[in-house]
Amino acid sequence: MASTVEVREAGDSDTPAVEAVVEGAFGDQGAAVNDVMARLRGVEDMGVELVAIDDREVVGCVALSRAWLDARERLVDVLVLSPLAVAPDRQGRGIGTALLAAVPEAAARLGAPLVFLEGAPGYYGARGWRPASAHGLERPSLRIPEPACQVLLVDGHEPWMTGRLVYPDVWWRLDLVGLRDPELAEVEAALRES
Ligand SMILES: CC(C)(COP(=O)(O)OP(=O)(O)OC[C@H]1O[C@@H](n2cnc3c(N)ncnc32)[C@H](O)[C@@H]1OP(=O)(O)O)[C@@H](O)C(=O)NCCC(=O)NCCS
Repeated sequence: MASTVEVREAGDSDTPAVEAVVEGAFGDQGAAVNDVMARLRGVEDMGVELVAIDDREVVGCVALSRAWLDARERLVDVLVLSPLAVAPDRQGRGIGTALLAAVPEAAARLGAPLVFLEGAPGYYGARGWRPASAHGLERPSLRIPEPACQVLLVDGHEPWMTGRLVYPDVWWRLDLVGLRDPELAEVEAALRES
């Protein structure tokens, strides 16, 4: 379903509403996701946050934060998309799709040639994302199932930009990289069947 929400850059005053959307969308994991976002906002690692607005209410959000591609030639500044969240009572109406549609322009504004994410290949693959491995890009952990490490090539991307994605340490300190068993084994089994 096409969405008519407005997508704009988030400001500090949006943070409480963003946190509520994240809590609603991620349930038990919401507090950990909000924790990493708060830490990213406190340092230069947060690139940009976008919010989806419907009738002046924040109904979805996406964050693009900084990471590196460890290419042979040099480190390349890239972005990681996490989280993408839509309020539970608004899901399935194209809001996630509208937020993703705003990502290429936001990434280009930040000068990042690549955006990475960990997510369901079916959902993101239908919205222009490709497995990172298809472009010579390596996942930062073997606990990210290979098809789930996905990438979007943005303006400024060049063929020599291959190598391993490196996350800043905040993601490791909060143990938010990839999946752990038993969820990891379940997702791997589901991907094998799909
Ligand atoms: C995933 C999420 C952001 C999608 O946003 P949304 O506004 O509901 O999505 P859209 O309306 O743009 O797209 C809906 C489609 O996505 C599909 N979809 C939703 N979540 C999905 C998932 N985890 N895996 C695969 N497909 C999914 C729906 O089945 C629907 O499919 P259809 O278009 O064939 O009917 C939202 O459901 C959400 O916040 N989920 C909880 C948090 C989460 O898992 N975030 C992603 C972490 S990377």
